[in-house]
Amino acid sequence: MPATGCQCALTEFNTSAIIATLGAFRCSCGSSSLAGCFFQYVPTSRNDMIEELRIGLVGCGNMGGALVAGILDRGNARPSQFTVVDVREAALDPLARLGVRTSQETRDAVADQDIVILGVKPQSAPEVLALVGRLLQPSQVLVSIMAGVSTARIEKEMGSPVPVVRVMPQILARLGAAASAVCLGRHADADQARMVCDLFDQVGTTVLVEEAQMDAVTGLSGSGPAYVYTIIEALSDGGVRVGLPRDVALKLAAQTVMGAARMVLESDQHPVVLRDQVTSPGGTTIAGLHALEAKGLRDALISAVQAATERSVELGDD
Ligand SMILES: NC(=O)c1ccc[n+]([C@@H]2O[C@H](COP(=O)([O-])OP(=O)(O)OC[C@H]3O[C@@H](n4cnc5c(N)ncnc54)[C@H](OP(=O)(O)O)[C@@H]3O)[C@@H](O)[C@H]2O)c1
Repeated sequence: MPATGCQCALTEFNTSAIIATLGAFRCSCGSSSLAGCFFQYVPTSRNDMIEELRIGLVGCGNMGGALVAGILDRGNARPSQFTVVDVREAALDPLARLGVRTSQETRDAVADQDIVILGVKPQSAPEVLALVGRLLQPSQVLVSIMAGVSTARIEKEMGSPVPVVRVMPQILARLGAAASAVCLGRHADADQARMVCDLFDQVGTTVLVEEAQMDAVTGLSGSGPAYVYTIIEALSDGGVRVGLPRDVALKLAAQTVMGAARMVLESDQHPVVLRDQVTSPGGTTIAGLHALEAKGLRDALISAVQAATERSVELGDD
């Protein structure tokens, strides 16, 4: 597929230059041209680098805890590489049991770390950024997973030119199945981008985007798990409607969604091609697809992504 047909995701900002220097990035359409293409981060084997990182986490709630536990599950990092801080001792317990160093002092997650991840809620950003800003050195990389908090805002709070990388991960990191989008602040370079992408690759798939696209990412993959849970629930209701026991229907629905998603990712084929392969003339599937068209499933999902993206813009900090 030629590069000219791509949606341009990287027209300005330093992201294009960074990607141009990284052999590990390629266009999702397969082109080697940089112009006008969407570039996807393609993981290479950099587990040796992961083994050496010292990683601090401030805010070990649902997302931060899932991220660290998911990285440890992958087996390329040791608990001793992490220092995790939370104001709530109970939030630290699960990781402490895995052998991770835990603390209630923010400075412990900053001092001597290569990467400091901010896993607090956006409401806690002013307090935490002020504190971390006083402690962080320009040689350290600050990674924010806070939804809706821009790199510009973080950089402003830092007071010095600190490399900032913003990531929108998913709670699916706990299963090693997250889709994470990464964008870079003004002072982050190619090596730091790659280091952060490598780290989040430990818990799934990573894409590098421009920051302006983070609201769209929120509308698609940020809110996406909830859409898919709804689809699975509705499919299982359909199974019950035609006589299957609830547990059987739910298992069949969830496994079908997982298998179809894996097929899209692993076959490198467009979903339309895959759909045609399972749609016989005059058969059952085309009858079902016709009903989906009549009820507007595709329109509903497109509208969902659009509405969530617009809401993300409304909630943004600048
Ligand atoms: N959950 C997701 O699926 C998801 C997905 C993508 C991105 N994110 C982002 O990830 C961040 C965390 O979300 P979450 O769902 O994990 O929230 P969470 O469960 O509330 O976790 C945040 C943790 O940080 C603690 N905390 C608050 N102030 C702190 C401070 N000054 N120092 C250290 N710890 C502090 C909180 O304690 P208290 O409860 O006592 O305040 C809580 O344990 C958010 O910014 C969110 O936008 C979440």
